[in-house]
Amino acid sequence: MARPRNGAGHHYAHVVGWGVAVPEQVMTNADIERLVETNDKWIRDRTGIAERRIADERDTAATLGARAARKALYNADILPRDVDLIVVATSSPEYFFPSTASLIQDRIGATRAAGFDLLAACTGFIYALDMATAKIKCGQIETAIVIGTEVMSRVLDWSDRSTCILFGDGAGAFVLKANDMPGGVMETVLHSDGSGSNLLTVGTGMRPVWNGQHGPQHVEMNGREVFRFATRVMASATEEVVELAGCSMGDVDLIVPHQANLRIIQAAARSLRMQPEQFVVNLDRYGNTSAASIPIAVAEAAEEGRIRPNQTIVLVGFGAGLTWGATLIEWAVKPTPATAIRDVVREGQIIFGAIQSFWRRVFRYIGSALFRPPARLYGETFRRWTKRQNTKRKDGSQEDEQ
Ligand code: ACO
Repeated sequence: MARPRNGAGHHYAHVVGWGVAVPEQVMTNADIERLVETNDKWIRDRTGIAERRIADERDTAATLGARAARKALYNADILPRDVDLIVVATSSPEYFFPSTASLIQDRIGATRAAGFDLLAACTGFIYALDMATAKIKCGQIETAIVIGTEVMSRVLDWSDRSTCILFGDGAGAFVLKANDMPGGVMETVLHSDGSGSNLLTVGTGMRPVWNGQHGPQHVEMNGREVFRFATRVMASATEEVVELAGCSMGDVDLIVPHQANLRIIQAAARSLRMQPEQFVVNLDRYGNTSAASIPIAVAEAAEEGRIRPNQTIVLVGFGAGLTWGATLIEWAVKPTPATAIRDVVREGQIIFGAIQSFWRRVFRYIGSALFRPPARLYGETFRRWTKRQNTKRKDGSQEDEQ
């Protein structure tokens, strides 16, 4: 995977492309009113959410993540075969293994890339961005895709009005690239406090049995405590990363917070003494998409021209764990518009990757069918083993009789 550079040179990790994939199905607050006892006014007043996207039965964290990654590659004019590493932050994967990163790698034709998943709930994207940035800065890799992707609708209890109103599905991706020009992802702070792990959970069904059950496999949350924690750490993590980068709050142009609740964002703005307009907010349209919320918000702000070169932006997240963290980015590189030829090559590599993957599966299937010992041999071996056990038992009982 890696193209070692012997750690030479001063490498910076720049965000050179971004992409978003959200499901088409829109679920409004009015739709939720038909599921649980709630109302549009309560949801808007307490959270700021008006609607969210819900994946249809064909979509998963991998399909949404792959769509976002393809758009990010297109935006960055990077070819799939040039990707060294894929890091995926998700709390709603299709499988425990294989990783969502492996599934996405296969779907986008990134045949040279390594990939792994990372779980830090809603802070996952900040953690993932830091992991990929570190690999670039130490010179081990040149190009990474960092993805936050979720189908939270599959881990919700749709009869619990205190949680099902909050979440939505979607994916966002960044392409990170090594560059000697100062800027890009400058500093990150990451935190975890496991003493609050009980405040926000989704079980896997593998906890020790208690009361005859392995525990629920949907979101359970102590909303008030999470709210209190979130308002505190959004401001503290932002100040911490700004100080670490040697900047002051006055240098920060824009903050992209985790999109959980408008009141949490407003409280953070007050405590940081920043204008509400300096915060990117899109939770009214998507709800809380967990690890996907920050990259979706960044991508939309960049598309709208709210994020521009030479700006200093802070991404700040919090979530289950409890986890929280912030990243300071000096937005420096303008995306290079792709030429038509490069587009054809990119699509070609994706198609080639799919064909290669198909034939590898076919060959594996044929190979295992040809070289598998016939079933009757297993049957014969088992018969011989049973016969031996019976003979031993008979001999033993004859000796006992004598
Ligand atoms: N509709 C109507 N009433 C409701 C609803 C609803 N959907 N949900 C709760 N209520 C009621 C409660 O039952 C309660 O009634 P009661 O006083 O008669 O008992 C009342 O509204 C107030 O409930 P609170 O929980 O105090 O409401 P609060 O103002 O705290 O808002 C909320 C609840 C929106 C969940 C808020 O606490 C919150 O946003 N917390 C943070 C959650 C969060 O950010 N989670 C994501 C973390 S990121 C991750 O890792 C996934």
